[in-house]
Amino acid sequence: MPYTAIVGLQWGDEGKGKVIDYLAGDYDVIVRFQGGANAGHSVHAGGKSFTFHLLPSGMLHEGVVGVIAPGLAVDPEELLGELRRLEEVVGSLSGRLFLDPRTHVVLPYHKKEDSLFEESSDNPIGTTRRGIGPANRDRYARIGIRVGDTLRPSRLKEHLRRSYDFNRKLVEIYGDRIPPFEEIYDFLLEFGRKVEPYVEDTVILLTKEERRGARILLEGAQGTFLDTNFGTYPYVTSSHPISGGATIGAGIPPWKIDRVVGVFKTYTTRVGEGPFPTEEKGELGERLRRIGGEYGATTGRPRRCGWLDIPMIRYAILLNGVTELFITKVDVLQEVGIYRMALEYEINGERIPYPPPFSSDWYHLRPIYRDFSTLEEFLDAVERETGVDLNFVSVGKERSAVIERQKRR
Ligand code: GDP
Ligand code: IMO
Ligand code: MG
Repeated sequence: MPYTAIVGLQWGDEGKGKVIDYLAGDYDVIVRFQGGANAGHSVHAGGKSFTFHLLPSGMLHEGVVGVIAPGLAVDPEELLGELRRLEEVVGSLSGRLFLDPRTHVVLPYHKKEDSLFEESSDNPIGTTRRGIGPANRDRYARIGIRVGDTLRPSRLKEHLRRSYDFNRKLVEIYGDRIPPFEEIYDFLLEFGRKVEPYVEDTVILLTKEERRGARILLEGAQGTFLDTNFGTYPYVTSSHPISGGATIGAGIPPWKIDRVVGVFKTYTTRVGEGPFPTEEKGELGERLRRIGGEYGATTGRPRRCGWLDIPMIRYAILLNGVTELFITKVDVLQEVGIYRMALEYEINGERIPYPPPFSSDWYHLRPIYRDFSTLEEFLDAVERETGVDLNFVSVGKERSAVIERQKRR
């Protein structure tokens, strides 16, 4: 089967960008299927560095084709800016990038609402303020604006009216204002003119690629525990970062995905609010953050740090159907010098091997830790405790810093 999915098994920032860039040499097409510019995927390859937000990571490889599928919500300014920045590094993307007309557009007022909701809430989510929640709310409320609308002026005018009026009232509740209708309408038409050369039915495009024998990589953004349905709700994002999200977001029949690579770090991080059972708030957490360089690729916020949480990884393996594991930041744990992981939790006097489906219980979990004396013992324990092959070990941010374990055994 032609499709491989790459998914994050924690709360995002597992090193998916690095992993996709590493594996991209064996693939022809890379598809982003959900999320938006809330993602930040950093890649370092042979002197070139790039942080991808909307474009598929892996496009530093010459000839790799990138696809933006309907499951995304794209911010026009971010997309155009990123296109320009990437072209400075790799040359023209003409014929190498395709954008589905059904992809939703993040409007300027969505970003404003994201910030207003966060600032006025007693219980903020800690979002990236990229407008992801409001844009996907409009998608499901059926008042969203899609890339295709920006290429059809009369349809855009009619459709934008509904979205505009609803969102204007919403913003006014917070005592704020949005720009005039005509300004947003012109901005969208201008965006449409600029992206028109890339617009294509990506379902047909992928079908043609499949038929000519192409290998296709589905690039997950965020992480399993930020999934709207299965994450630590409400401290989640507004999309489906799990492998199933690829089938809905990119229109891929489930049976065509036969390889699912689960990416996770040797420790755990989280940006924003919400429960975090293995969090280290003190000096050790600070050490993980400093040595791991744990600051957000999108917002620059310090990431919360803690130990590897095996119950979470076990659950993520079930949700995603992970067929092999890719661990990152091994060099960081080596420098920290503590090979610690939680193997189970204790709650109400009971030991449990998986995180519970009740969000509120997450705050009462007591992780049962085990320390290992060597890295090898730690990695063997990961494999034993999860029951899935740990095929790749990343030992640095550079593309070449990967050890393929199955070959070594
Ligand atoms: P993503 O969102 O999952 O793509 O991850 P980010 O790019 O947001 O964050 C991961 C960070 O770790 C980036 O700065 C990567 O360059 C870096 N990184 C990835 N793998 C490794 C590794 O094995 N070792 C080290 N030291 N850094 C890594
Ligand atoms: P990558 O792809 C880490 C988090 C935010 C916040 C919550 C909701 O780089 O792994 P949103 O802006 O999506 O409404 O915020 O989700 N979040 C991420 N955390 N990595 C990401 O992406 C994230 N994208 C969103 O910090 O807690
Ligand atoms: Mg990231």
